[in-house]
Amino acid sequence: MTPGISRRALPREDLQALEGYHSPQIDVPVRLNTNESPFAPPPGFIDEWLAALRELTFNRYPDRAARDLREALGTHLGQPTERLFCANGSNEVLQTLLLTYGGASRRALVFEPTYALHGHIARLTGTDVVEGERLPGFLLDPDASAALVRDTEPSIVFVCSPNNPTGTVEARDTLVALADAAADVGALLVVDEAYGEFSHWSALELVDDSRSVVVVRTYSKVWSMAALRLGFAVAPAWVVAELEKVLLPYSLSSPTQLAGVIALRHRDEMAERVATLINERERVAAALNARPELRVFPSGANFVLLQMHGDGHALWNALLEKGVLVRDFSRWPRLPECLRVTIGSRVENDAFLTAMREVLPEVAA
Ligand SMILES: Cc1ncc(COP(=O)(O)O)c(C=O)c1O
Repeated sequence: MTPGISRRALPREDLQALEGYHSPQIDVPVRLNTNESPFAPPPGFIDEWLAALRELTFNRYPDRAARDLREALGTHLGQPTERLFCANGSNEVLQTLLLTYGGASRRALVFEPTYALHGHIARLTGTDVVEGERLPGFLLDPDASAALVRDTEPSIVFVCSPNNPTGTVEARDTLVALADAAADVGALLVVDEAYGEFSHWSALELVDDSRSVVVVRTYSKVWSMAALRLGFAVAPAWVVAELEKVLLPYSLSSPTQLAGVIALRHRDEMAERVATLINERERVAAALNARPELRVFPSGANFVLLQMHGDGHALWNALLEKGVLVRDFSRWPRLPECLRVTIGSRVENDAFLTAMREVLPEVAA
């Protein structure tokens, strides 16, 4: 080495070409771009949580096993505590799954277009990514996708249902076909149900100790707790035991664990919010469906994907000029001219629909 010339440290070679995850934030009056809840948590939840925080022994590490939270979640979902695994947001659950079941010389199968972080975290963990396709309209073809599992022999298969960003809910038979194919090749089937509460059915009923099916959920959406970062997996007890080896010790803070337990005491208020958002979703989708310039995809989530017959990016820009931010997928592979709109409060949704009425004729012209 030449004296005086220092060498800059380089990241792992496979990471050098990788781009970070981007979800642009712009400060506008109506933000319908990140699928958060439009509602603050119930006041009773905040009061109970703050009271619990005052009693907390801040000088001690949190309960590493998050026992109370896992027990409360287990009771809520009718599952034994041993089948619950909690981490900082469902993203950290996905990362832990990939650190445990992915890695060098292993493959993850994803069906595009889907939640970008499945492929992204897989790559970060050195896992090869195989991309499967969807039918027109974005549902999975049960036979073709099960055949792809058998052909490519991944160690982990991701299915997002309801799928982000399309809103598509997979049928039970499709997930059973995928679970059977995964079992044939010794793969883990991970069903990402970040939006599961907005859907008419859940793959939670497929989770038991006899098959390698994991359902991942979050407190970020329904429970209005995106700021606190809490997600969980419902998985066979023998999967949870492996994940616990990999998660950093004391990773889940005591305030977050308390929030997770206390939120579950407010389930009736949360169920009302889910019902409100589903009604609003159907109202927004019906209004959009009435426009000949658009195609609207059926959604089982708290957002709707629409496709502009024309320039989707121009529509996104025109909405932004009216103070409404939605998510622009118009230049993404497999999502030509598509925008994703989070369902907000009634006032926000009205602002979006008014802006659409104003800008659509111009953009479509
Ligand atoms: C499908 C899906 N999974 C997981 C997440 C991550 O959620 P969180 O890490 O906030 O729990 C999101 C967030 O938007 C998502 O859309």
